[in-house]
Amino acid sequence: MKAKFTPLAWFMRHGILQLGRTVTNQLARRGRRFPPPEDLPAKKLCPSKDMEGECPQEANGSHPEQHEERPPTSDLAMDAGSCTGPVKTGETVITEGKAKIIFPSANEVFYNPVQEFNRDLTCAVITEFIRLQLSAKGIQIAVPGEEKIEKVVVDLSEGEEAESEPAPDGEGAAQAAAVGEVCKEGVRILEALAASGLRSIRFAKEVPGLQAVVANDFSSKAVELMARNIQFNGVGHLVTSSLADARMLMYQQKAEKHPFDIIDLDPYGSPAIFLDAAVQAVSEGGLLCVTCTDMAVMAGNSGETCYSKYGAMSIKGKFCHEMALRIILHSLDLRANCYQRYIVPLLSVSADFYIRVFVRVFTGQATVKASASKQALLYNCVGCGTHQFQRLGKMTGHGSNFKYSSASGPPVGPSCEHCHQRHQLGGPMWAEPLHDQAFVQRVLSALGSNLGRFGTQDRIQGVLSMVTEELSDVPLYYTLDSLSSTIHCNTPSLLQFRSALLHAGYRVSLSHACKNAIKTDAPPSVLWDIMRCWERLHPVKRERLSDTSPAFHILSVEPTLQASFTIREDANPKSRKQGLKRFQENPEAYWGPKARAKAGGGISTSLQDKRKLHQNKRKERAGDRSQVKNIPCKRLKEGSGAGAEKCCPSPEAAPEAVKTDSPPQ
Ligand SMILES: C[S@@+](CC[C@H](N)C(=O)[O-])C[C@H]1O[C@@H](n2cnc3c(N)ncnc32)[C@H](O)[C@@H]1O
Ligand SMILES: [Zn+2]
Repeated sequence: MKAKFTPLAWFMRHGILQLGRTVTNQLARRGRRFPPPEDLPAKKLCPSKDMEGECPQEANGSHPEQHEERPPTSDLAMDAGSCTGPVKTGETVITEGKAKIIFPSANEVFYNPVQEFNRDLTCAVITEFIRLQLSAKGIQIAVPGEEKIEKVVVDLSEGEEAESEPAPDGEGAAQAAAVGEVCKEGVRILEALAASGLRSIRFAKEVPGLQAVVANDFSSKAVELMARNIQFNGVGHLVTSSLADARMLMYQQKAEKHPFDIIDLDPYGSPAIFLDAAVQAVSEGGLLCVTCTDMAVMAGNSGETCYSKYGAMSIKGKFCHEMALRIILHSLDLRANCYQRYIVPLLSVSADFYIRVFVRVFTGQATVKASASKQALLYNCVGCGTHQFQRLGKMTGHGSNFKYSSASGPPVGPSCEHCHQRHQLGGPMWAEPLHDQAFVQRVLSALGSNLGRFGTQDRIQGVLSMVTEELSDVPLYYTLDSLSSTIHCNTPSLLQFRSALLHAGYRVSLSHACKNAIKTDAPPSVLWDIMRCWERLHPVKRERLSDTSPAFHILSVEPTLQASFTIREDANPKSRKQGLKRFQENPEAYWGPKARAKAGGGISTSLQDKRKLHQNKRKERAGDRSQVKNIPCKRLKEGSGAGAEKCCPSPEAAPEAVKTDSPPQ
């Protein structure tokens, strides 16, 4: 007989309610329902001596470089088995940072080695966040490898932050929190989408000042593996695995008034569906760490999809990586605003094929009123790429009082004043600073005193150094190649162009998000004047410009500024002079977003599989002339144009595609 349809039964059959229950039941069964501080074991656990199942290989102080160990052999299994828990045949043990993670050979649980930078950066950021949180409670954190820890006493008895001063060892010294120990006053972390548990285990083994870490996933295969990995690494006293829909878990914790101090969201693609729960389930002043890998959507390939996920239109432009950062910040702030909360970004990074933001969440109705004036629409000229911001609201200060009103606009006319083309409208997006520079400095100086803490430390230091040089009050950027290609002239060197801006009295910086980026407070009219002056020195053939082209309109105007391209000493930023590693080199073959894990480990044909499928296709076909499409390029067809002689329809002569910093979409 056919069962009667009831909505409740349907939801449960389809796993929608069941997952929320599973976590409750499972944790209740285990008697481990995210214990409040007083329930935590009082015993101090020393990572090297008392930690159950501590792997002896870690005690040797070897550099925590990520590497994939040999495929399973009985040797490896025995080797790994000397830690805790058996490694089954067909499984691999991977080391990243201080964690050793068991992985099945099939693609049942997600792991992307290229995201090591993301996980290293997260460990570095949350260490500094925790240092700040705990120092206010008089607790000092001990980070392994850091130069001598200066003991401080923070006296908050008067309700004011007292000066921190070094205390002699012994009496009066502040409490210290060490890695691998439960710190009763420490922070509670939720890794909402944890897969193998690698990130949570790294937190437990590398970051001091933790009260508890919940590693959650809704895949039972992942949670099974996670539980084994927790045991394998001997961090069961700090990390609890949880099987639940991440949203249900966060709503539940919010309802039970048991928020998390740090929530990490590292989803497949977009984090959009988790944001509403996350902004509520994080504690007052707590930290959200959010990854987005749906860069095609966020960078302008599908503006309407971007709107449906983030409430903002993305548009195509050279500035797309920074725009993506501003879109996720807008979305986070907007969702927080629903609950009288608002965000304060600590660090926002664009790397490889994803973006990662670290924001604090606070409550305050008065500050929430300012949120409209922190967002802006973007007018972007389709002809010359000149862009202008239009704030959504206006905030005016009268002493300590603020008045809020609507903004006036638009900032542009019906067509672009420089090239006479139309504007595209993007946003709204976050128009305030992307980073808290003082916080970023703290992360940098901690890394500076602990060289070799992370496998990707050089790159973290390079990227953060660039971040500290970025002009924080200038949203988005131009690129040198787009400015020169608009007027069809050759490109000035970075130092020449930066010098011209400095000579003209403006500020300029690079951006960590894009090579060749020019961030400047100079108005677009000055940028085009500099390009006009450059063109006078390196003339383009005017007769070849169509009289409706952006180049024709821009070059028809006489510059009002006489640009000087004499190189200035201060035109070369420190991070560039020092040759810091600032952009990703190809880390491995087929790098990029990984395919989703599949139940049963079935191989998905997405992303890296497609990449493998298509790799060397050109080379393979090169020998077979019959396969070559005989379509000459436009320049060759016309038989004119510089470089036409170099054009070749044959793939043999075609330069091999070089992967760059742009996302491999
Ligand atoms: C990209 S992986 C996480 C990788 C992991 N954070 C790391 O650093 O290795 C995304 C994970 O989210 C899980 N997931 C997807 N939707 C979920 C949901 N609604 N609730 C809980 N887990 C979810 C997937 O099963 C998958 O394991
Ligand atoms: Zn224009």
